[in-house]
Amino acid sequence: MSEATLSGVLFVCLGNICRSPTAEGVFRARLAERVAAGGALPELLPVDSCGTAGWHIGKSPDARAMAAASARGYDLAPLRARQLQWQDFYTFEHILVMDESNLADVRDAAPLDYAGDIRLFLDYAPGQPVREVPDPYYGRDDGFSHVLDLVELASEGLLAELERRATR
Ligand code: 4NP
Repeated sequence: MSEATLSGVLFVCLGNICRSPTAEGVFRARLAERVAAGGALPELLPVDSCGTAGWHIGKSPDARAMAAASARGYDLAPLRARQLQWQDFYTFEHILVMDESNLADVRDAAPLDYAGDIRLFLDYAPGQPVREVPDPYYGRDDGFSHVLDLVELASEGLLAELERRATR
């Protein structure tokens, strides 16, 4: 498959029930705002999320993630967990992972001829002291609002970069 067929954004974490669905929901909402405001990005830009592990396939996001997102106006309820698959490397141009462990796993899974970009999502939030979105699954409930803070910043950074590319 040629490089020209790659587009869109895939968010990846471990279980696809906490961080990456949060990133998908926030990014989708912010993208829709920019499209409605007449920005340079296509309305049909593919956006999805998945996990490197298959433990939660078919499940809704974690109830704590949905509640924290809902408090900021993001609806994660329609999302269902799935696992990273081979086809993703022939579909998505930008693969954004939440932590170094995800980065190693996705790089290991990628075909040698993957023509897109795999990187830490927080590369797009350069002012932050952390490079990884911490896994909130076994932590306190306020971990989910910290995830949202980081994901909102990185979503804005990524959208700004995609807009720059679209207008070049
Ligand atoms: P996520 O969080 O990778 O942000 O979805 C986790 C969800 C589930 C598990 C670990 C992390 N788990 O061990 O089941």
